[in-house]
Amino acid sequence: MPALVLLGAQWGDEGKGKATDLLGGSVDYVVRYQGGNNAGHTVVVGDQKYALHLLPSGILSPGCTPVIGNGVVVDPSVLLSELSGLNERGVDTSKLLISGNAHIITPYNVTVDKVTERFLGKRKIGTTGRGIGPTYADKINRVGIRVQDLYDESILTQKVEAALDVKNQILTKLYNRRAIAVNQVVEELLGYAEQIEQYVADTVLVLNQALENDKVVLFEGGQGTLLDIDHGTYPFVTSSNPTAGGACTGAGVGPTKISRVIGILKAYTTRVGAGPFPTELFDEDGEALRRIGGERGVTTGRDRRCGWFDAVIARYATRVNGLTDFFLTKLDVLTGWEQIPVCVAYEIDGKRVEELPYSQTDFHHAKPVYEMLPGWSEDISKAKSFSDLPKNAQNYVKALEEMSGAPISAIGVGPGRDETIEINSFL
Ligand code: GDP
Ligand code: IMO
Ligand code: MG
Repeated sequence: MPALVLLGAQWGDEGKGKATDLLGGSVDYVVRYQGGNNAGHTVVVGDQKYALHLLPSGILSPGCTPVIGNGVVVDPSVLLSELSGLNERGVDTSKLLISGNAHIITPYNVTVDKVTERFLGKRKIGTTGRGIGPTYADKINRVGIRVQDLYDESILTQKVEAALDVKNQILTKLYNRRAIAVNQVVEELLGYAEQIEQYVADTVLVLNQALENDKVVLFEGGQGTLLDIDHGTYPFVTSSNPTAGGACTGAGVGPTKISRVIGILKAYTTRVGAGPFPTELFDEDGEALRRIGGERGVTTGRDRRCGWFDAVIARYATRVNGLTDFFLTKLDVLTGWEQIPVCVAYEIDGKRVEELPYSQTDFHHAKPVYEMLPGWSEDISKAKSFSDLPKNAQNYVKALEEMSGAPISAIGVGPGRDETIEINSFL
């Protein structure tokens, strides 16, 4: 069994943490390939709840090796506190591997993220303020700091100098902030070096050798398809590629090794931060989805914007990721509605549009065209198989599957590991 990718099919927070954890017990490696601690993945094991930001959700499965790939951006202070938080709860984190090529989120990247957002005012993206965008910008500008640089003080100093040369001009002259001292940053980063060293590895080699030896590798996406820098609702996106191709570049594994791409799909839609969202609700239904679904950000604590399921988005996710399966989550949250609207197309400037428009202006004007599906009132949280679901819930799932373009192979009916209906096996 070669490699699988598990990624968000909407705007993030679809339930990737739960899905990854569910498979974690049966795979050898779980790899984060992009993003950083902007992610917030919730895993519920028994009566224990874990919120993971940077670490792969596989870290909670004892047999599994968690890997932070080259495409991830790593804030060393967050890494260490997340590790010690898990250690205090008895989780063994000693198997963790971190790519020496992963870029470091430096304190100045976090500062730049926050001041840029403030400067943008009402045009802001609504970032998580974790320094993600500025760190990827440094990477692309070739002034980034990599994990391996922590082990060569002279190189590290030169690189921090180069990065701060321009940034200090911007911080002092444009944003009216104090300049950041090179030696202070270097000292802080060197302070992390020894604590992280045991985890640093040539993860590209490790993962490719694992695949040659028939080990199972699961790539866990952060964020979601519509937050992808290339395929998302730019500029209201994150600065990396959560879509399937990102797994190849962000981990150094060729596309021929990937046999399955699983899209995690919420039974309705949520979004955090700014940007277009055609099915967003501003009424009591939106409030109810937020309340029943517990839709509050794991990373920033912001209320999530909530809306009905959008099949146009799901079809788009199928296409740009080459999805082979969907894992439908939070079906239980929809229990109790007499009728459930599902967006099947958009109306844009008076015309019906079936597929996501490539034009940002058109997408901003998109109005949802709804089809009403009959709801159910029975508690479905104990359902173990598809046939345990009430007829209308079965029909809702079947309708979504037909509209979305890939089979729904699992259904989440609660946050716990065992609150899942497995239809087709992933492994
Ligand atoms: P992620 O970022 O994609 O990992 O998702 P989050 O953890 O940010 O948000 C998903 C939330 O839904 C978490 O609180 C999960 O515990 C919860 N969750 C996941 N699957 C289900 C499900 O099937 N039903 C319910 N009720 N909650 C779920
Ligand atoms: P998980 O992995 C939902 C959003 C932010 C903002 C935009 C850019 O839990 O699904 P960034 O800090 O990345 O530059 O912010 O992306 N965003 C997320 N929204 N879930 C996430 O992660 C997100 N990570 C970033 O709210 O709109
Ligand atoms: Mg999340």
